[in-house]
Parts: sequence; structure tokens; C-alpha cells
Amino acid sequence: MQTTITETEARSLLRSIKAPQLDLKPVADHVLEHYGLAGEWHQLEGEREQNYRLVTAAGERFVVKIASLEEDEESLIFQAKALEHIEQVDPALQVPRVRRTLAGDLLSSISAGEGRRYALRVLSYVAGETVMDLLSQRGFNLSADDLLSLGAAQGRLARALQGFNHRGALRPMPWDLANGLVLGDWLRDYIPDEIRRDVDRALEHFAGSTLAALPRLRSQAIYNDFHESNVLVRAEPLLEVVGVIDFGDMVYGTVAQDLAVAVASFIHWSPEPLAAAAAVVRGYQIHMPLESADLAVLKDLVLARLILQVGLVRYQAVVNGRNDQHLDELQSLYSAAVSRLANIDDDAFVASMTPSVVPTPISSPVVEQTATDIQALVSRRESVLGKAYTFYNEPLQLVRGRGTKLFDASGTEYLDCYNNVANVGHCHPYVVQALAQQAATLNTNSRYLHSEILRLGERLTATLPEGLDTWIFVCTGSEANDLAVRIARSVTGNEGVIVTENSYHGNTSVVAPLSLLEYDIKDKPSWVEAVPAPNVYRGIHRGDQADLAERYSDHVTEAAARLGARGPGAAAVLIDSIFDGNGALVPPQDYMRLAFEKAGRAGALCIADEVQMGFGRSGTDMWGFEAFNVRPDMVTMGKPMGNGHPIAALVTRREIALEFQRRTGYFNTFGGNTVSTVVANATLDVLQGENLQGNAERVGAHLKASLDGLIGTHELVGHIHGRGLFYGVELVVDRTSRAPAKLAARWVRERMKSLGVLVASTGPLGNVIKIRPPLAFSTADADRCFEALHTALTEVPPDLRIASSA
Ligand SMILES: Cc1ncc(COP(=O)(O)O)c(C=O)c1O
Repeated sequence: MQTTITETEARSLLRSIKAPQLDLKPVADHVLEHYGLAGEWHQLEGEREQNYRLVTAAGERFVVKIASLEEDEESLIFQAKALEHIEQVDPALQVPRVRRTLAGDLLSSISAGEGRRYALRVLSYVAGETVMDLLSQRGFNLSADDLLSLGAAQGRLARALQGFNHRGALRPMPWDLANGLVLGDWLRDYIPDEIRRDVDRALEHFAGSTLAALPRLRSQAIYNDFHESNVLVRAEPLLEVVGVIDFGDMVYGTVAQDLAVAVASFIHWSPEPLAAAAAVVRGYQIHMPLESADLAVLKDLVLARLILQVGLVRYQAVVNGRNDQHLDELQSLYSAAVSRLANIDDDAFVASMTPSVVPTPISSPVVEQTATDIQALVSRRESVLGKAYTFYNEPLQLVRGRGTKLFDASGTEYLDCYNNVANVGHCHPYVVQALAQQAATLNTNSRYLHSEILRLGERLTATLPEGLDTWIFVCTGSEANDLAVRIARSVTGNEGVIVTENSYHGNTSVVAPLSLLEYDIKDKPSWVEAVPAPNVYRGIHRGDQADLAERYSDHVTEAAARLGARGPGAAAVLIDSIFDGNGALVPPQDYMRLAFEKAGRAGALCIADEVQMGFGRSGTDMWGFEAFNVRPDMVTMGKPMGNGHPIAALVTRREIALEFQRRTGYFNTFGGNTVSTVVANATLDVLQGENLQGNAERVGAHLKASLDGLIGTHELVGHIHGRGLFYGVELVVDRTSRAPAKLAARWVRERMKSLGVLVASTGPLGNVIKIRPPLAFSTADADRCFEALHTALTEVPPDLRIASSA
């Protein structure tokens, strides 16, 4: 289906790109008549189209585009339909929206005298800073994480275009890399001497094997223009693509050439083109897994794009009689990238991209789950597992998960608002593929050298406060906390540990006594000290009291003194920054800092348990403790780290780790194994590539605003605890007594389940609805969760709106 182009066609196409120059008045009249739009007009730049920005009185912004006479109308329709297709399949992807005419057409035709008629389109205006703007602010530098995010956005766009086609896609296009050879050939005259040899070699190779390979590769409608000026981004906290504009270069082509455009656009900003290309490719594969055949031609396609850029920049300058310094600079940048890339060995290039190459999925030996009589399954379960706890009055038999959705054996879909483990979404294909590939390659322990465990540590270190740089990988959060306590004891010589009441820190013999949620506090051993959790709603110090942080943290000083007096002394204070066992608390701002300082003064080490809050859940930060301006001695993490695969870790400062290692060895057969570390890296790729932390901040704020509104509408709702994408909706019988409405909470949980939304009822008093979804939660998901909660609260029967300890 590739449409090749002759040299003459290419020259004429390039020449013909001239924007029309219509007067504003007839354009404004036309737009009012055919689109019903009026407002303020501003002329925008445009190479082959005349562009205006139109701002209506209501503040809506549009771009009005008038195509040149030579532009093929079918190709304009192709672009408009592509935009509509994207809007339909991935509405969150910010691309211009097509504003149809009042008659429902994609284009209108504006006459400009002398019988000439131009095609006019109206698109929504997508606002944002371009990557180029960002580059100029940042001294022309893109980090590996930035490149990963850019690759991911390009992959997502490519996936959204899968399955779309239109005859307008089959047009000859000078920027279609399938024409790279013919263009390269005649553009030779415009190639600088110093890279002529590299260019000749590259084009020869292109002619030899790449062109022959292209027709066999996966093809589809491709965006084909993912470069610095077309991609809109937000830089903080992580680079996030917030929009993609200019669909004028779309064609039908190979997936590989689409990716090559993005790689070529971003690698020349890096002194290490190979590493930069690998980061873009890794991000891309989050949405669009590549096959080895795609990768085999990638380097040639990137080179072809770069050569085209070198040549066309100069060609257009000459043809248009333009000669400016900016073009010269661009040309030398592209030229440098050509020579660097041309001198990288083909196999080395493919090998560098290969860690993320994914195989075609293997057929699974997993036993197919079929719908079973739930009661029969419950009895069978009891006979195998004893009376182990299950969720819900009638337990769920889940058989499948995807994104934020779970499906039971009868095919019913549930919105998962509870499982933070599947942080980047259930069964994320990129993570699953990485897991499958590594499992089929090597899985062994961390006594052998392997780069993935190092890469994981290095990448995570970069997200933590300075000094937290020495890692021990384990399998569960419990193991990480267990080890943290052992290290603290070994380094301080003390034995005691301070935790908050109702906390949960795990299940080993060391941390089970620190999980006060699980047993009666009266039975706690003498080395455990419990301090009141900083609950500003119903804790011993409440919202209206002054110095809450000071008062709550004073309990840490007192607890340490008691431990000292009893003998064990204080080895550590261990705090979960969302106080999950207490119903998702937001402590007074200075609480954690003061608690850590006071524990430190008593000789204890400070451990931040990030098993719940880590990996972006707070929205504002990667780690939950960061909002409170503290510097823990150790951080433990787990649950979401491998998106469901068991991997957890402890990180501490070098001197603490060395001191521990001097006294004792530590080995964990499965901790940091090859598959687990690959999975954790892949999960991190998705977290960063899709900027799910930013998503948590945005969707979390949206959800929080809705939940806050419940306080005004439901007497049962006493307080909304939590932040980011972790909320506790505390139900009370009435707001004055604050008596816990535990029966109502249970009823709400069950009713929400029947409405297809999964939450839990938790908290020390059992009256808190816990909402803690995967971070891949969308605004629509948040609305669905909220609606179900609202409905359930409305329907709570009067006889359950009572205080009860049942
Ligand atoms: C705050 C906290 N720490 C530690 C753990 C223990 O993690 P794991 O179940 O992976 O052993 C949990 C588990 O729920 C937790 O919530």
C-alpha cells in the first residue's frame, strides 16, 4: 500500500507548499455563516496553510485553517477523520477536536474570487508549551525519563490510530520515509560535505535492505510528525505530554517509520544517541509492543529522517531564498546526529533497544476459570484454606483484570477502587510482556551480576532525597519492614520500636507485633510502643486544638522515654505516611517531621513505610513522606512496585547499610531476582511514561472535590480523609456525636459492589469507606465511583444508621 514518489513529484510537492493569503473579513464572515462562530481573530504562522486563532466571547478557542489550492481535499478529510477517530477511541488524548460545519461537514469551501475555492477547517485550539519551548528553557537537554514519556505519548497516539484508515492516507508525501531513498538521492546536493560519506553509506544500506523490508512490516495510518514543535508538554513534576498538534503529515505507513520520526526528533538533544533512542523506544512500547522486524529497520529509518531533515532544511532555505543562522544551527545539529548514529554498529543499535523487545504472547497454561456456584467454591476454599478471610458478604470470583476493571466468572465488570497493587492498571500489557520475556530468558538470584537490578536501584535513587542510595531488594513489604527493624536494632544497639496505634506493617514475627490493627494492644510485647495516630477528626487531639503536630509528636518522646525506662530503648520509629490502618489520615503538616526529630533525639532511626503511599499515589510526590519535608533514615516499599508481581525493597544511607553489613550477612533467594527487577523497571516505565503520578494528582483532586461535596448532602458523611488517590470516607451516625456508622459502612460497601464498584469498609471502627484505586484511574472512573457511593449513601436503610459495635 506504500505510495512511492518520484523526484519530480517531490520537488513539485515541496515547491507547492504555499499558504493562501485571504483577507480576514471574508474568512470571519464565512466562519460565522458556516460554523456559527465569531470572536477575536489572531493570525498564526503557517507554512502551507493560512491559520488563525479565533477566541469566542465564551472563551472557546479555535484554529481556523485554510489549505493551499494544491492541497488534496481527500487528505484533509483523512486528517479530520483521524482526529475524530482518536477522540472516539482515546478521549483523554489531547489532540485538536474537529468542529464540523453547521451542516455537519468536516470541511467547508471558501471562495476567494477568480473562481478559486479553498478548503477551510475549524479545529479546537490545544494550548500548551512545546517541547522546543521546554528545551530552550532547560538548556537543550532531555533526561531519560523525559524521553520515556515522549516515547510513551507517541506509542499511545499510534495505538489510538490502529484500525483507522481512509483513502486520503494514500497520497504521495515528501516526508514519508518510504520515499527516503529518492529524496535522499536528489537532496545530496544539499548535504554538507563532512557527512556526505555517512549519508552515502546510509542510503546505500537503505536501498539494499530497508526498502525491501518495509512492505512486510506492520503498517497503519501514522501520525508521522512527532517532533519538538508539535508536542505540547507540562514539565513538572514529571514531563507529561498534554497535547499533540499538526496532523498534516499523516500517511499510511509502517509503525517503525512513525517511531523513527520521534526517535530522530529527540536523540539529537542527547550526547548519547543510543541511550536516548532506547528510552524513546521503551516508552513507545508501553502502548505499542514492537517486533524484532520493526527494530531491525529502525536505525536506517531514523537515519533517513535525519538525512531528510538535513537536506530539506537547506533545500527549502535555498528555494525560498532564506538564509538564516537558525537554519544553519539546525542543520549542524542534524548533521552531528547523522554522523553519530551512522557510526553505531547495526547490531549494537538493535541490542540496545532489545531489553524492551517483547515476544508475541505465549499461550498460557493457566487453568481457565469458569463460573462456579459461589457457595460451593466458598466451602471448597474453607476445606483447603480454613476460615481465611474473604472480601464481601458473597465473595467475588474474579477471573480477569484490565486497567481499572476487574471481571468475575459470570462476565460482570467491576470498577476497581480498592487495589493499589495494580498501580499502573491490571495486567498492563507492557509489564506482562516484560515479565514473560524475562521469564523466558533468565531468572536467577542477585548473587550474580545483572544490569536490571542496578538500573532499578539507580532509577529509584533518583526519585528519593539525597543520600538514600543503598538498596536491599526483598519480596514483600513485611520483609522490608522486618529488615528495617533488624538494621535499626543492629545499628543503634536498642530494641524497641515506636508505631502508631492501629497501624499495619506486616506479618513476620518481627513486624506482626508492630501491626496493632491485628491484635489487642494489651497483648503487645514490651519492646513495642504505640502512639496515638494523628487523626485530626476523631483523635485525642482534634482540629480545633492548637499545636496539633507538637502535641501528637510529643507522644513519640514519651514513648521513647518509656522504652528507655523499661530497658529495650528506642531503635526505630516506623510510620506509614497515609496511616492506612487508621482510615487514610492526613496528619498535621509538621507531624512527621517533629515525630522523626523527637525519635531521632532519643537515638532511634526513622523509617518511612511507603508500602501504601509510594510510587506516586499522593499525586504531588513519588513518595508519601515527601509532602512533609522529612528525611527518613530508611524507606521501605512494596505492593505497587511490581504491579502485582512480588517485589519490595528497603533503601537507606550508605553508612547505615555498611554498618549492618559489617555485622551480618543478608541473603534473600527471591529478593531482587532477574524477573522481579525487570518487572519493577517495566512498571516504573509505565508509571513515568504515562505520568500516572500527575494523573493521581489531577484525578485525585477531581475525586476529592466530589467527595467533599458529600458532607453537605449526606448526614452520614462525617469527614473525608486522604489525599492523591487514597481516600477514607468516614461515616457517622450524626455529625455532632461522631458516633461511628459501621453498619452503614458495610451496607454501602455491599451496595456499591452491586452497582459494579469495588471499595472496602475499614478503619479502627469499621466505619470508613476506603477508596484506593490503581493510579491509572480516569476522571470518568472517579465519577462512576462517586455516583455509586452517592447512590448507596442515599439508600442506606434507616435501621442501619445507628451506632453499633457489631
Ligand atoms: C503500610 C504497610 N506496610 C507493610 C505492609 C506489608 O506488606 P506485605 O503485605 O507486602 O507484606 C502493608 C500491607 O498491607 C502495609 O499496608
